[in-house]
Amino acid sequence: MTTTTLDEAVERSPEEAAFDAIIEADSRVEPRDWMPEAYRKTLIRQISQHAHSEIIGMQPEGNWITRAPSLKRKAILMAKVQDEAGHGLYLYSAAQTLGITRDEMTQQLIDGRAKYSSIFNYPTPTWADMGAIGWLVDGAAICNQVPLCRASYGPYARAMIRICKEESFHQRQGFEILLTLMQGTEAQREMAQDAVDRWYWPSLMMFGPPDDESPNSAQSMAWKIKRFSNDELRQRFIGMLVPQAEILGVTLPDPNLRWNEETGRWDMSEIDWDEFREVLAGRGPCNAERLQRRRDAHEEGAWVREAAAEYARKQAANAGKAVA
Ligand code: 3HC
Repeated sequence: MTTTTLDEAVERSPEEAAFDAIIEADSRVEPRDWMPEAYRKTLIRQISQHAHSEIIGMQPEGNWITRAPSLKRKAILMAKVQDEAGHGLYLYSAAQTLGITRDEMTQQLIDGRAKYSSIFNYPTPTWADMGAIGWLVDGAAICNQVPLCRASYGPYARAMIRICKEESFHQRQGFEILLTLMQGTEAQREMAQDAVDRWYWPSLMMFGPPDDESPNSAQSMAWKIKRFSNDELRQRFIGMLVPQAEILGVTLPDPNLRWNEETGRWDMSEIDWDEFREVLAGRGPCNAERLQRRRDAHEEGAWVREAAAEYARKQAANAGKAVA
């Protein structure tokens, strides 16, 4: 019978030691490097959820492209929604470097097995929602995603650089829509405030559950995928919003929101985590509609995939003939 000493049991293989050294040195793990299976799975989970969020996230704003109040607003909104499609594609590509296919990820989404951000399950009944989404949702996305430009996985970190640049433009265009409305008529100001009231709390939920209820944070931070905890980023976001709300002249809908000198944090009302859990469980205001729209789009796009596959087959056959 062989016995294993404790030292032998905890001894790392050369691959594990090399991986740990990359993380320790704040360097990047690349697709061909060895990585622990749990690291790979965590990345596939986070990156694919992120990609799905970008793709589903096109719907609430796509809803307004045909009704934008001017040609200029329409062109800007169309460019923004196209940017989100691009973000989804970079992110699916980054996830593919980890050994999952785009088809598998798409299937998980349309079967309802994959998560995507809770925020995209809320309706967009007014034009001011385009402003509130840009200001609050893209603002939250920037807070959460700028640190991801330093994520330890190279393809993800590099994709995030361009995504964050584009998100900054999205945030500014949302701010500018709200500013224009706030400088308009009483009815326009009310519409802007109403949109801020509806999007404020869901935008805080985007950062995920509180730290003591976030099962993935500790390990993701140890691996330097996440650099800050959910609550830390939520606090930063509030700090960013408060002076901007003043410039806009909108009120953030939390009577208990104030800076606490002693703790160095924002005091605030409790987030409605029951609502968050309901949305994650598929019972938010628009979950069913969003998924159905995605399924329909996938079915309607079948002929494009077939045509592309047939074209690729012909190209390959022709290349074969040329060689022969
Ligand atoms: N919506 C849906 N699911 C959420 C969520 C949210 N707002 N917040 C957390 N969750 C899920 C997690 O995915 C996790 O689910 P799983 O374990 O079944 O996969 C579970 O709730 C527990 O949460 P954790 O805090 O433990 O999970 P993470 O460590 O992964 O942290 C996160 C959650 C902060 C969202 C992190 O995954 C992250 O930073 N992801 C990358 C950014 C991203 O996906 N953003 C989505 C918005 S996309 C966007 O903003 C588009 C732009 O154009 C507006």
